[in-house]
Amino acid sequence: MTRVRVRPVRARLGRSTARFAAAAAMLVAGCFAGVSAAGPALADGSTLQAAAAESGRYFGTAIAAGRMSDSQYMTIANREFNMITAENEMKMDATEPSRGQFNFSAGDQIANWAIQNNKRVRGHALAWHSQQPSWMQSMEGSALRTAMLNHIAGVAGHYKGKIYAWDVVNEAFEDGSSGARRNSNLQRTGNDWIEAAFRAARSADPNAKLCYNDYNTDNWNHAKTQAVYNMVRDFKARGVPIDCVGFQAHFNSGNPVPSNYHVTLQNFADLGVDVQITELDIAGSGTSQAEQFRGVTQACMAVTRCTGITVWGVRDTDSWRASDTPLLFDGSGNKKLAYSYVLDQLNTADGGSTTPPAGSCTVTVAKTESWGDRFNTVFTVSGTNNWRVLIRTGSGQSLQNSWNATVSGTSGTLTATPNGNGNQFGITLYTGGNTSTPTASCTAV
Ligand code: XIL
Repeated sequence: MTRVRVRPVRARLGRSTARFAAAAAMLVAGCFAGVSAAGPALADGSTLQAAAAESGRYFGTAIAAGRMSDSQYMTIANREFNMITAENEMKMDATEPSRGQFNFSAGDQIANWAIQNNKRVRGHALAWHSQQPSWMQSMEGSALRTAMLNHIAGVAGHYKGKIYAWDVVNEAFEDGSSGARRNSNLQRTGNDWIEAAFRAARSADPNAKLCYNDYNTDNWNHAKTQAVYNMVRDFKARGVPIDCVGFQAHFNSGNPVPSNYHVTLQNFADLGVDVQITELDIAGSGTSQAEQFRGVTQACMAVTRCTGITVWGVRDTDSWRASDTPLLFDGSGNKKLAYSYVLDQLNTADGGSTTPPAGSCTVTVAKTESWGDRFNTVFTVSGTNNWRVLIRTGSGQSLQNSWNATVSGTSGTLTATPNGNGNQFGITLYTGGNTSTPTASCTAV
């Protein structure tokens, strides 16, 4: 039995059309491969991790050891994410509270849970100016350099073989227009401290990918982005062992998702490193927050070497900046609109789904009546009665009318939710000169 994977036939076609094309493609594949039957098209992912896996990517979260007794938190974490970062538990102060005396209990709790549940672990962070243990904060010079190298050997050595990627050095550059290194006690040990850290990490765990991780490096035109880029280019040229660059991606209204994000990610990737979104959170709510989350997801998916996305926490109330409500689940564990936008975007890597997996839903799209300036489209949801359907309209199109669902938005992405009239609903769109059928995706909520 051949399992045929069908890729973006979907584009701007309705899902039902895409499924037809998928079926046709399978028949063709079966025929040329000389097999008697082809398998079903892979279903759209109904969780973030499943949807990301469609394009070979991961979807991760930060986990706090102190919340691991919260069953709602752990249920969501286990269901949605397959890459785990310890939010604080592998940092310098947590792992080496007294000089030369390591403590891995909280870090191990997170790493072991992840591994037992078939998830991978991003290590965070081996060397950083912040969250240093107090004994290190007061150190300088060659003694500090030795202590840093010893710390890296101890921590990366302890987790050897268990870590997908380490943030070896975190936040070493200054904000603003200088493009300079941040003035920290580690920087004052000599400009080569970063490469020394990477070499120490490589010898402690040769199989972990080694990343440089920072924030405010998202906009290609910013001096800090250019400065990090130049360092990575220099490291690659001189054989310093670096494999990846992490983009923290903490966004808010003063620091929004840049429209050139994919350009930044691609330019770094072109240096021969993987790129990852490592600490994503976006202040806001509703459609504007959801659109920004989609933008980040889209930017990553546009870059082959963008291997995954991690959000910095599970529910809004778990966030280090909870008042910004910056995550994908609300404080009660409900999927926010931003969740649906991310899931929808991740699922564009798949050709469309056939049967909805348990606990999920699918939606079929059928264009029906049309008039000169407008046309109707009918959507049929299966798999659940509690759904949210995102409808992507074509450019120029706008909503004139809807029935049997509550539909919000007028152009671009519309959101439909049940209004007590069952699982089939319809919309009338003004064509605006564009008669293409909208696409749709479903979130079981
Ligand atoms: C934050 C944690 O989320 C907080 O719990 C802690 O109090 C401070 O650190 N950049 C990083 C992360 O690399 O380690 C930080 O995490 C957020 C900013």
